[in-house]
Amino acid sequence: MTPEEVAALMRPDFVFGVASAAAQIEGAADEDGRTPSTWDVFAAQPGTISDGSTPAVTTDAYHRFDDDLALMRDVGVDASRFSLSWSRLMPDGRGPVNPKGVAYYDRVIDGLLEAGIRPVVTLFHWDTPASLEERGGWLRRDTAYRFAEFASAAGHAFGDRVADWITLNEPTTVMLDGYALGVHAPGRAKLFGAIRAVRTILLAHGLAVDALRAVPVTGRIGITNVHTPVESASAAREDHDAADLFDFVHNRLFADPVLLGRDAELPRGAQGIDRLGLHILSRLGRDRAVISRPLDFYGLNYYFPTRIAAGADPEGRTPDGATEAMKDVPFRLERFPEHPVTGFDWPIDPCSLGVVIDRMVERYGDRLPRILITEGGASFPDEIAPDGTVDDSARVDYLARHVAIAAARPEVDGYFVWTFVDNWEWAAGFTQRFGMVHLDTETLVRTPKSSYHWFRAVQQARSREAPS
Ligand code: BGC
Repeated sequence: MTPEEVAALMRPDFVFGVASAAAQIEGAADEDGRTPSTWDVFAAQPGTISDGSTPAVTTDAYHRFDDDLALMRDVGVDASRFSLSWSRLMPDGRGPVNPKGVAYYDRVIDGLLEAGIRPVVTLFHWDTPASLEERGGWLRRDTAYRFAEFASAAGHAFGDRVADWITLNEPTTVMLDGYALGVHAPGRAKLFGAIRAVRTILLAHGLAVDALRAVPVTGRIGITNVHTPVESASAAREDHDAADLFDFVHNRLFADPVLLGRDAELPRGAQGIDRLGLHILSRLGRDRAVISRPLDFYGLNYYFPTRIAAGADPEGRTPDGATEAMKDVPFRLERFPEHPVTGFDWPIDPCSLGVVIDRMVERYGDRLPRILITEGGASFPDEIAPDGTVDDSARVDYLARHVAIAAARPEVDGYFVWTFVDNWEWAAGFTQRFGMVHLDTETLVRTPKSSYHWFRAVQQARSREAPS
């Protein structure tokens, strides 16, 4: 697909943006009053990050924001989604706010606005202040109230300028990778015992929506979760039940209470493991109304489809690395031999993005607000050629085909590429590159890749077509 063909599918108001997260780009981990987050603590433990790196410097965006802004402006980015570091803005996870943290995000927001770029803020993209984690983190109800306090402070500081607010990024991943499997911070492997975190996280979302509306902020408010179409590895009943259980845990656990305002319906495959905690979710009680406040948009992150079979995986594979805990889970991830894969070994199947959207529309009907694809992208081992160029045509192909599917859907208002500059990829450290701009992790020099030029070509084609 040519850039012109992709551009032709985009409505004039379709938002074509880029996305990032504080812990993955900012660095300056102990500067200007910031305190450690769960990821600083997790990465300091040997064996947690595949290349032994830490979030101390990452892309150093804290000091290089102007350079990155110039690059964003150069390609005509419509919107930049970034997250606030809770421990930079509110060290220790509770008041008072840190003026230096406010000053940094003021500079980012004002810079974006001056460049004509829409600021989209995620309040929580996985970096819980370490002091809150020590007191129980998302397993403790009090954390939801601390989060609402943080949301309110952020709303008061930036609520006059932020276009879109995202309360939480991927609660599913926080619960699964962080608390059930332990491959992400805070590194707890509680398996189904992690379900207790779901209720706190759901409550935190609802309280944050209320806190932002109480300010009141001028922007729209939503939540982002990651969705994947789940299919059974065979027609066998046990594979179907396992796939349904995975679909429940991955796709419905958070979205059902948020969008439908009703308790989660336990899947058939949950029989026998209910004693492990799923029943907590069928009694949301007085929290239900707060959790299901109407939203202005639903942020959907999509990367790959999932195929599930019953029975544990002796290798304990997860999309984010193998782990002991996964060997105790009663289902396993199967491969997609028919699809090519990314550097992370994630299957590439653009049609699955359409399937995810169809399933959301079908399940949530008129309770589903406007959709923003708040993340999508692919990692590849990009290298700088002797002539200084970086050919990432596989990423161009991935993006063109996924963006085309999103843009053709009337329910979808935008697509945010994950990510702009190669970042610190959580437990994978610097081993997976997702950016449209190459990062030299030693010198921090940025080099545009071919996807960067492709993005600009799409935006230029759109402005040529725009009615003047
Ligand atoms: C997360 C990002 C992450 C990306 C690629 C998403 O699940 O929100 O922070 O870098 O996937 O792994």
